[in-house]
Amino acid sequence: MTGGAGFIGSNFVLQWLATEGTPVVNLDKLTYAGNLGNLQEISADSRYSFVHGDIGDRKLVSDLLGRSRPRAIVHFAAESHVDRSIHGPDDFVRTNVNGTFGLLEEARAYWTELGNEDKVRFRFLHVSTDEVYGSLKPEEAAFSETTPYSPNSPYSATKAASDHLVRAYHHTYGMPVLTTNCSNNYGPYQFPEKLIPLTILNAMNGKAIPVYGDGKNVRDWLYVADHCDAIRAVLSRGKVGETYNVGGRNEKPNLEIVHAICSILDELRPADPVVPHSKLITYVVDRPGHDRRYAMDTRKIERELKWQPGETFESGIRKTVEWYLANETWIREVTSGHYREWIATQYSV
Ligand code: NAD
Ligand code: TYD
Repeated sequence: MTGGAGFIGSNFVLQWLATEGTPVVNLDKLTYAGNLGNLQEISADSRYSFVHGDIGDRKLVSDLLGRSRPRAIVHFAAESHVDRSIHGPDDFVRTNVNGTFGLLEEARAYWTELGNEDKVRFRFLHVSTDEVYGSLKPEEAAFSETTPYSPNSPYSATKAASDHLVRAYHHTYGMPVLTTNCSNNYGPYQFPEKLIPLTILNAMNGKAIPVYGDGKNVRDWLYVADHCDAIRAVLSRGKVGETYNVGGRNEKPNLEIVHAICSILDELRPADPVVPHSKLITYVVDRPGHDRRYAMDTRKIERELKWQPGETFESGIRKTVEWYLANETWIREVTSGHYREWIATQYSV
């Protein structure tokens, strides 16, 4: 797998070793978003190994594939934050487009040399996002697998480009690829630059909770363990060459998310510096090109692979808040100098 030290990747490794149990090699560059602390509990597990490196390093990837001889590649590694892609798109093109291209080329070289049986069994699973489909009007139907791509941010444009490359490797070379397009995730180990962990941390510490624009942008939220579960279902039962939309059927405006977190904190942390926590909600300047609404039609994965999310938004968000409250050391470690620099850049106006 690639990007296993990030938010979704680390949840995936932990879930994989607890359920499937076959060995995992994790290739990760350890950018600001990668944190080996997420994987401390399995660092000594003989089924797990870590390789520090860039997916765009063709020699490293080629050697690693030759050495570890995987039966599948699950590709999570990416630059993943829309606001950072607005400030500096270069890394997004480098990793999401060029990095995925290099990985595909090396995967193709490895796959081509496999014996017939292994060749048929091999899978390249590309983890992507609902943001490639663009933005929905309130009355429009949710995104399906056949919705035309219409990405609006440098992040979503680079993810769309990588999705197209993955698709082309199936149609042109016959590589056994699969793609998942998932909605917004939340849960343990999410870096506190994204809405939900940022809100939890700021609210606990009596700091302003920044809501962009009018707070009515809608996202479809899915608990991270349910996304990992969906990826495992697609990997084992998905039809080669297909894409699968994944989502929680949980469309909510940002303000509702922020209020839900504040209410849980009012109950669990009545002695925090500012209570009720909702007093901290502050409207700030909107994100440029801010997509209004995302929603996923998940009937295909439900029907064909019998996947269903296990958490409701209410159960998932409570677990998430409780996790952040119980993991202050993790928070201290990730909110170091670089984090403070980002917060100063993004929220200075
Ligand atoms: P993240 O930013 O938390 O983690 C990304 C990981 O990739 C980090 O560990 C980082 O060190 C690693 N990485 C970055 N560039 C690399 C490179 N060049 N080589 C090797 N490793 C590199 O991201 P996330 O939220 O866990 O997202 C994982 C994947 O899921 C991404 O592809 C993202 O587009 C997709 N996705 C995310 C969401 C979401 O809500 N977070 C929703 C749908 C899809
Ligand atoms: P985010 O977590 O960055 O995910 P994405 O942009 O990939 O959907 O943002 C989720 C929503 O929350 C999005 O509409 C932007 C909004 N948002 C805020 O209102 N304030 C914030 O400080 C952040 C980070 C996001």
